[in-house]
Amino acid sequence: MTRSSSVLKRELFAGNEVTIRNADFMLRTAIYPGSFDPVTNGHIDIIERGFKLFDRIIVAILHNPAKKYLFSVDERMTLLRESLKKYPDIEIEAFDGLLVDYAVQKNAQAILRGMRAVSDFEYEFQMALMNRRLNRNVQTVFLMTGLRWIFTSSSIIKEAACFGGNINGMVPPAVNQKLKEKFGR
Ligand code: COA
Repeated sequence: MTRSSSVLKRELFAGNEVTIRNADFMLRTAIYPGSFDPVTNGHIDIIERGFKLFDRIIVAILHNPAKKYLFSVDERMTLLRESLKKYPDIEIEAFDGLLVDYAVQKNAQAILRGMRAVSDFEYEFQMALMNRRLNRNVQTVFLMTGLRWIFTSSSIIKEAACFGGNINGMVPPAVNQKLKEKFGR
């Protein structure tokens, strides 16, 4: 799916097709930040749904100081690129610093996050409030995770893969392959 930079989309207004161009209004840009260690189908689901709400999505690999990573930033970036190759307009970047600073640098109005079970709520609430305190102009938008992905996470998938568990359908094929290589299977 591509979005031309001049013609953004065609929509129906009062039954007539209207062409909306970039210059007609400000692009609604969202950053979808995360560790993506590695990207899972749960993340892809949020990205695909977010892309229906925003004109521009930037998937940003950021550093969470509380985590130890299995994949390097370069590996995570390559896996994201491969997994999102049918969406060439979705940007993928890495950033080392404050998320809200990055959002400002990218002219993004929103931070997109997926919300899984109730257990996510406290952490996400804390992070959203802190980000708002740091910059009131950047809004956090939550999408409810698809039911299929409600109990998945990168860690649980890595653990299953490490012990030879079948993770088909939970991660994009490139990630499945890379996990097999990492764990020597
Ligand atoms: N489906 C399935 N799993 C999902 C998911 C979905 N839709 N959305 C998130 N997850 C999982 C991830 O796989 C991840 O699992 P893991 O903990 O087992 O790795 C977990 O939910 C949350 O990870 P993620 O969304 O990648 O966030 P994070 O906590 O790793 O990273 C940052 C949070 C990077 C966005 C945050 O630390 C940050 O903003 N860092 C920059 C510094 C900064 O600005 N800090 C101040 C913020 S207050």
